Amino acid sequence: MDKNQSHARRSFLKKLMLTSGAMAAGNYLSASDAEVRKIVGLSRNQSFAANDNVNVALIGAGSMGSGDLNTALMVPGVKMVAACDLYTGRLESARKKWGNDIFTTKNYKEILNRKDIDAVIIATPDHWHKQISIDAMNAGKHVYCEKPMVHSVGEGPDVIAAQKRTGKVFQVGSQGVSSLGNEKAKELLKAGAIGELNYAEGFWARRDPVAVWQYPVPEDASEQTVDWEAYISNTTRRPFDKLRFFRWRNYNDYGTGMAGDLYVHLFSSLHFITDSLGPDRIYSTGGLRFWNDGRECPDVQLGAFDYPKTTVHPAFNLSLRCNFVDGTSGTTYLKLVGSEGSMDVTWDDVTLKKNNFSDSGDPFLQKQKNTNASEPRKKILPPRIITYKAEEGYKGGPYDHMANFFTAIRSGSNKNVAEDAVFGYRAAAPALLCNDSLREKKPMHWDPVNMKKV
Ligand SMILES: NC(=O)c1ccc[n+]([C@@H]2O[C@H](COP(=O)([O-])OP(=O)(O)OC[C@H]3O[C@@H](n4cnc5c(N)ncnc54)[C@H](O)[C@@H]3O)[C@@H](O)[C@H]2O)c1
Repeated sequence: MDKNQSHARRSFLKKLMLTSGAMAAGNYLSASDAEVRKIVGLSRNQSFAANDNVNVALIGAGSMGSGDLNTALMVPGVKMVAACDLYTGRLESARKKWGNDIFTTKNYKEILNRKDIDAVIIATPDHWHKQISIDAMNAGKHVYCEKPMVHSVGEGPDVIAAQKRTGKVFQVGSQGVSSLGNEKAKELLKAGAIGELNYAEGFWARRDPVAVWQYPVPEDASEQTVDWEAYISNTTRRPFDKLRFFRWRNYNDYGTGMAGDLYVHLFSSLHFITDSLGPDRIYSTGGLRFWNDGRECPDVQLGAFDYPKTTVHPAFNLSLRCNFVDGTSGTTYLKLVGSEGSMDVTWDDVTLKKNNFSDSGDPFLQKQKNTNASEPRKKILPPRIITYKAEEGYKGGPYDHMANFFTAIRSGSNKNVAEDAVFGYRAAAPALLCNDSLREKKPMHWDPVNMKKV
C-alpha cells in the first residue's frame, strides 16, 4: 500500500470511529447492529434557463428506447419531437405514447436531416450503434447511445474520432455510472474503506424465458411491417427472419452476447469507481447448456480479467459470471474486495463489510487483544456491516444519467458528460474481447491506455 492509500485508510478508520458510538466504546457491532446511513447529495448540478429547451428524437423505439425517452422527458425542458423504428408497430405505439404530432419514419437519415432536432437517443440493436452515432454527430446532433457503444472492438476509434471532430456531446447509456450508489462506492474506495483493492466480481442469474431473450414476436411481423433490408444492410445478407429481428440479442450479427449486453454495465461501474482504464488480459469460457433455440451465444459464460497496477489503483483481478439457466434466478451484483473489507455496490446503495479480525491497526482492537489473559476464550465476531442507502425520493441512476447528458448539452461541452466515447469504448472493449476469447479459446491481450488489441 502506498503512503496516500495508507493515509486514506487511517483517516477513514478515524472517521468511522468518530461517527460510531458503539465502536468508540470499544464494542464491535454484531450483524444485527448493522448500520444504515443515507447517501446524500454528492455531485448533482442540473440548473437550466427557462428558454433552454432541447428537442429530442428517438432512434430505435423498442423497450430500452421507450424507457430512455420517458426518463429524458422527466428532465425539465426536454421535448420529444420524432421517432424512428424499422417496425411499423413500434412507430404506432410511439405515436400513442408521445402524441400523434410527432414525426415518425423508418429511415433514421430523415431524422438527422431535420433542423428541429437537437439530440438523438439511439436504442437500436448493437450492430447499428456505430453508424447511426457517427452519422448523427456529423449531422450536428448530440447523441445518447445505448451500451455497448460498439458491436465489435474495431469500431470504437471511429466513434471517438467523430466526437472529437464534430465537438458534439456524446454519452453512452450505462446509467449506473451516474448513480448515487456508484458515486458513494468511489468515495469510499478512495477513503480507504476496504483497504487495498485486490479483487472484484460480478454476477447475473436469470431463468425466465423473456429475461433470457425469448421475446414475444408480434403477430403481424412480416416483410410488410419490418424494413428487413435496412436492418441487414450493414451485415450478412439473409432472407427475412422474424426471430433475428425481434430476438436480435441471440445472434452475433446484431447482438454482442452476454458479455456485450451485461458485462459492459459492470465494466462501466467498476471503471468509474476505481478510475481504472481497463484490464490487460481477458479470458472467457462458457457454453450453451439449455436454451437450444437457435441462439449463437452461450447461456452460461465466465470471464476472468487482469487489471494491471496503475498510478491510481493496485493490480487486481475481476471475475464475471452470467448464467441464464440459474434455478435460483434473479441475482445481480457487483462486489469489490480489499485487504480490509468489501463493498457490494448497486445504483441505490453500497453495503460495506469490514472483517474485525484483520490486522487493522485499530487501537481499540489492539486494546481488546491485550486485556486480561484469564478472561474466557474470545468468540468469532461477524463482520462489521454498514449500508449506505440513497435518500427517499431519489430518482435513480437512469434519471441522473439522462440529466447529466442534458446538463452537458446545456453547458456546451462534452467534457461534462458522465460517460464519453473514450470511457464507453474502454467499457465495451473488454466485454467484446470476452466473446473473442470464448470463440478462439485463448486469452485476449488489450492495451487499456492506448485502447488497442495487443
Ligand atoms: N442501459 C440499459 O440498461 C439497457 C437495457 C436494455 C437494453 N439496452 C440497449 O438498448 C438497445 C436496444 O435494446 P432493446 O432491449 O430496447 O431492444 P428492442 O428490440 O426492444 O428495441 C430495438 C428497436 O430498434 C429497432 N431497430 C432495429 N434496427 C433499427 C434501425 N437501423 N433503425 C431504427 N430502428 C431500428 C427495432 O425495430 C426495435 O424496435 C441495445 O443496444 C441494448 O443493449 C440498454
